[in-house]
Amino acid sequence: MTVANLTSPAFDLVKLTRPNILSLEPYRCARDDYKVGILLDANENAYGPSIYSGNVSSADSNAIIASDIIAGLHRYPDPHQEDVKQLLCNLRNAPTKDDPSVAPLTPDNLYVGVGSDECVDTIIRCFAAPGREKMLTCPPTYGMYAVAAQVNDVEVVTVNLDLETPGFPVRVDAIMDTLTNDPSIHLVYLCSPGNPTASLVDPASLKKILEHPTWNGIVVVDEAYIDFSPTGSSLAPWVTKYDNLLVMQTLSKAFGMAGIRLGVTFGSPSVARILNNVKAPYNISSLTSELGLKALSPAGVALMNKNIAAILVQRQRLLDELPMIPGVGNFIGGNDSNFLLVQILDKPDGVPSSAIALKLYTTLAEEKGVVIRFRGKEPGCPGALRITIGTEQEVTVLLEKVKETLAAIYNA
Ligand SMILES: Cc1ncc(COP(=O)(O)O)c(C=O)c1O
Repeated sequence: MTVANLTSPAFDLVKLTRPNILSLEPYRCARDDYKVGILLDANENAYGPSIYSGNVSSADSNAIIASDIIAGLHRYPDPHQEDVKQLLCNLRNAPTKDDPSVAPLTPDNLYVGVGSDECVDTIIRCFAAPGREKMLTCPPTYGMYAVAAQVNDVEVVTVNLDLETPGFPVRVDAIMDTLTNDPSIHLVYLCSPGNPTASLVDPASLKKILEHPTWNGIVVVDEAYIDFSPTGSSLAPWVTKYDNLLVMQTLSKAFGMAGIRLGVTFGSPSVARILNNVKAPYNISSLTSELGLKALSPAGVALMNKNIAAILVQRQRLLDELPMIPGVGNFIGGNDSNFLLVQILDKPDGVPSSAIALKLYTTLAEEKGVVIRFRGKEPGCPGALRITIGTEQEVTVLLEKVKETLAAIYNA
């Protein structure tokens, strides 16, 4: 049966849609194409959420969400999420509690969002006017910064990371000069540890940008993967001394809670207040905050640390064993995250090849049940694949499948 189309003849979707939205290339992830198999593409935590160990039965899941939360679901959630914020402060204050150069973080320093992806968008909406002001990113970097910028009609100025130096350091002098010359840049997005570089930003470089003598803007440091870096690497406490710094974190990675969508931004109270003024009133659901509180409790943090320790063992295993496979080249990023960036060669002992890396990526996903991420089109990443660290068993399968698939590609 066909349904009559009663749309007004005046309706013209192309003319109606904002041009920046019409030309938007949406964020794409490997999961758009491949959803099943061993999923080592999205830098999740294969060891599970930090709210239980082992398998959850339906009886356990009732216990995980307390009955008073279920009974209260007809009420809107807490718009301020003070309890979640306090636990986040406790977590980040612990390493700096004896450091007199930073004050303790308090809930006034926080804005919480629907994943840090919402934080990225809220920050742009607050501090960069559409069609007029700009933001700066440092490729290769997380793709959502540019997507959120385009949605908001904010131009992106890029200053590539140093593509020639191992670990992809930030080119601090080039950033300083760009900011000096273009006051319409209001935001700088740095990713530490970087995605896909897995390297921490040098705190001295960040300090230099924060102390830029003439630029009026905000530096956003995305610390989504910070808990996989050495303890004490987070610069969140710096927001107590730099009003022009925002630090984003998330429960999606080390805490293994990607499904609840809980992202975090630390800032000075005056900046955090602006972000809180702009957000939707009830952006964090009661279920999300209940599960977030569990993950951030002492037991949840202990479980997170246990899972991180297991991930680091497997990271070392990949660092040791992947290079033994003929055709696997160098690791080109750092070791500060739950993924590695590795180059694939055109032949054993050859040179990096994005064509072979792409072939390996698609064959693994389509024929071998292993999904990783192709990054060979990113600046400075020829032939690169990004591989999330999985469980011991997943890493064993990955190593086997990479070896047999590469051998078949070279022999074809
Ligand atoms: C660097 C970086 N920032 C932010 C995010 C988004 O995290 P969330 O799940 O909190 O939205 C990701 C997700 O992969 C990421 O890699």
